Amino acid sequence: MTDRSALIIHGATGDLARRMLYPSLYFLDMDGLISDGLTIIGHARSDMSRDAFIDTVERAVRDRAEERFFDAEVFRRFASRLDYCPGDASDPETFGRLAGLIGDADNRMFYLSTSPALYAPIARGLAAQGLTADPARVILEKPIGKSRATCEAINAAIAQHFSEQRTFRIDHYLGKEAVQNLIALRFANAIFEPIWNRHGIEQVQITVAESLGVEDRFDYYDEYGATRDMIQNHLLQLLCLTAMEPPANMRPESLRSEKVKVLRSLRPIRDADLPLRTVRGQYQAGVSEGVSVPSYVEDGGGGPSDTETFAAICAHIDNWRWQGVPFYMRTGKRLAARTSQIVVQFRDVPHSIFGASQLMANRLTIRLQPQEEISLLLMNKTPTLSRGGYELKPLSLNLSLSDAFGSQARRRIAYERLLLEALNNSSALFVRRDEAEAAWAWIDRIIDGWARRGEPPAPYPAGGWGPSSAFGLTERNRHSWFE
Ligand code: BG6
Repeated sequence: MTDRSALIIHGATGDLARRMLYPSLYFLDMDGLISDGLTIIGHARSDMSRDAFIDTVERAVRDRAEERFFDAEVFRRFASRLDYCPGDASDPETFGRLAGLIGDADNRMFYLSTSPALYAPIARGLAAQGLTADPARVILEKPIGKSRATCEAINAAIAQHFSEQRTFRIDHYLGKEAVQNLIALRFANAIFEPIWNRHGIEQVQITVAESLGVEDRFDYYDEYGATRDMIQNHLLQLLCLTAMEPPANMRPESLRSEKVKVLRSLRPIRDADLPLRTVRGQYQAGVSEGVSVPSYVEDGGGGPSDTETFAAICAHIDNWRWQGVPFYMRTGKRLAARTSQIVVQFRDVPHSIFGASQLMANRLTIRLQPQEEISLLLMNKTPTLSRGGYELKPLSLNLSLSDAFGSQARRRIAYERLLLEALNNSSALFVRRDEAEAAWAWIDRIIDGWARRGEPPAPYPAGGWGPSSAFGLTERNRHSWFE
């Protein structure tokens, strides 16, 4: 990075900027990971002074850092980087003012964290000021479209001003430590690869469960639903990293090409298969973590809604490695717990020599949330004497990342890593254009099929594990969900 650089955050007063971006940048600054010459400019419609903007950022950083990690001295230094540009995205003068604040910083990076409807107007406004010329880069927040067609339209509008190499599409799951570690686990250990296929693996389950409801994002969420909000991006990314072939190296293009191959091998789900391979649900009133909570519809003010807050899909990957292995994905709001995990269920031993003893097949669990940990279930002999011979018991070999690397350390925000990678111009952790479009193509078919069938989402009580049909999805193959 050259000495004079500028990061411009469009949507500077938005929820994402306050909850994630400012705290992440502050922490990067605290750790000495951003260069002295970096200026951070917020752009939003609200008319406010630079000082008022700095106050907003300080509140956001204090909320996230809490007492323990807030350092007034570091914040003073961080604040000296900040500036603010008010103005409407459709007004050319806004971009003139922005150009004035950016000055001669030739290394420019534009973070679009506004409504996607503003992505094209912002890119045009920047281009009119000559701000998009190489090496300027753009970061796009999700959702990038609502379907393949709308995603393509956004990509095309952005591509008029930024080449693909200079376009960074965010999926914040790729910035999570445990997700990174999945790549290390698979490709830095030799023991998994020989059994990481249909011969060794019976099924894979990917769960991202949230105990919270839609909070104050009803309007956005009601238009998208769980499938577009979570499966199209986060869960499919986890599926890709679990299923992809070993890339030739860690270069962004190698990694991303392998992921695209997986997406293109996903078996399309035909309308006739929807009832067998997919489930949609919507939460009703219930008890979540000991507290009575209203239904989704009540959360939105009472109007009717057919949006799903829970979705589960049984996917198949049509290639040599994975033929016949179900990849179950499920996600939902107001479920029994906040937990995200990938569970890889290995096959049973081909023949048991242990008589009546019940054997459990080996199982690898990669937990992302609430804690980052990896565990491998193995059968063990219980250390007792008995007339009956061997007594066996399943035990877990646990690798807790916080135990191994210190629980006192601050758990990093996924955006810290992503911002750092983008500032360093490394695109491995960002979603390529063909990748985003391939994911939408597979999801579109499911969502359009649901629309054709016209069935409302199945109700499920808040605080449970989704509608009963979600259990049928796995039981049909004589599997059951791992909690
Ligand atoms: C976001 C979704 O992308 O991911 C939210 O829009 C969801 O609805 C969030 O709550 C979950 O992220 P995390 O990191 O808390 O698992």
